Amino acid sequence: MIIELSEEYIPNQIIHREKQVKEISSIFTNFKKTGMGTNLAILGVTGAGKTVIIKKVIEEQGQSIYINCNETKTPFKTLSKICLKKVKTQSDVLEQTIKSLRDNPRIIILDEIDKIKNLFALANDLNTIYRKTMIPIIIISFKRNIVESLPSDVRKTLFFHKLNLPSYNAIELKDILESRIKLVELELLDKLDDGRRNFICAIASKQGSARVLMNILVRCIQSNNFTQKHIEYLYEEMNKKDWRGFVEDINETEKKFLEILTRNSNCEKSIDFQFLQNKMGLSAGRISQLISIFERYDVIISHTENLGRGGGRKRNVRFKSKETYNEIMSVISY
Ligand SMILES: Nc1ncnc2c1ncn2[C@@H]1O[C@H](COP(=O)(O)OP(=O)(O)OP(=O)(O)O)[C@@H](O)[C@H]1O
Ligand SMILES: [Mg+2]
Repeated sequence: MIIELSEEYIPNQIIHREKQVKEISSIFTNFKKTGMGTNLAILGVTGAGKTVIIKKVIEEQGQSIYINCNETKTPFKTLSKICLKKVKTQSDVLEQTIKSLRDNPRIIILDEIDKIKNLFALANDLNTIYRKTMIPIIIISFKRNIVESLPSDVRKTLFFHKLNLPSYNAIELKDILESRIKLVELELLDKLDDGRRNFICAIASKQGSARVLMNILVRCIQSNNFTQKHIEYLYEEMNKKDWRGFVEDINETEKKFLEILTRNSNCEKSIDFQFLQNKMGLSAGRISQLISIFERYDVIISHTENLGRGGGRKRNVRFKSKETYNEIMSVISY
């Protein structure tokens, strides 16, 4: 196993995220000076670098407790990890957590907070903890609307400042790829010429994800196959598993848009722009935006039809493939 290519590896420099690392770092510095600080929500698509940037800051600054909520899943287990003690009941755990944080103040970091089953309960506990200790809380999620989904009194007390990580574009991904390749010095990688490197970056940029980029690179090395066809195949395989998460993550308007699409079109039958606009009751600009979003995720394709003299142009939309249509159909709930 090549450590520099693993998920766990924290590069010396997190390129294209310097500003964000600095911003998070300043919360730690303020906390060390004053014992207080801003609560922060780090948001961004999967693979946008949320975990790696927070780990970098922890490595440099310490004085924090990092929890991946995908491992704890419940408010009880999450608080038990913070208080570092074996406790039996819910009320005990809250009390002990507050005591532990008073004795040994540490910034609380909750990665993948969306994985908590009873998020409302945890949010209420965090509210109490914050009111009693003023210790900053950093939550991390790929769900853009996670803060809005918390109870309003919690939102008002915790008042999360949002740090939105933009998705990486192909050029940024190329920089990330090159910097990692430089670290490993594998002879095998000579096969990955510049054209293929660009191709991997272009594919990963569809989701703006450095995770997709790293996964493709690692799998190409594992199979010693760097052909364009293989890269495409790997990307499709990776995408297949993701549709449920994708549909769970999108907002209500986007869901409605997908529902209308699944009801009225498939991979052969298109629907036109006007129809979508009437059904959605939104402006043309907003519909264009929605089309771009789903095109970017390879869900749909759109094409413009010329209606001949005086007829103008008509934009049609359909699902990109039968597989995608079936996958989306199976996860979207009416
Ligand atoms: N700017 C960067 N420079 C170098 N490597 C990066 C950068 N951003 C992300 N990576 C690498 O890409 C991979 C995915 O990043 P990370 O785990 O931070 O994503 P994430 O936003 O936490 O995604 P998820 O929501 O799925 O947890 C990791 O291997 C990470 O080291
Ligand atoms: Mg992460």
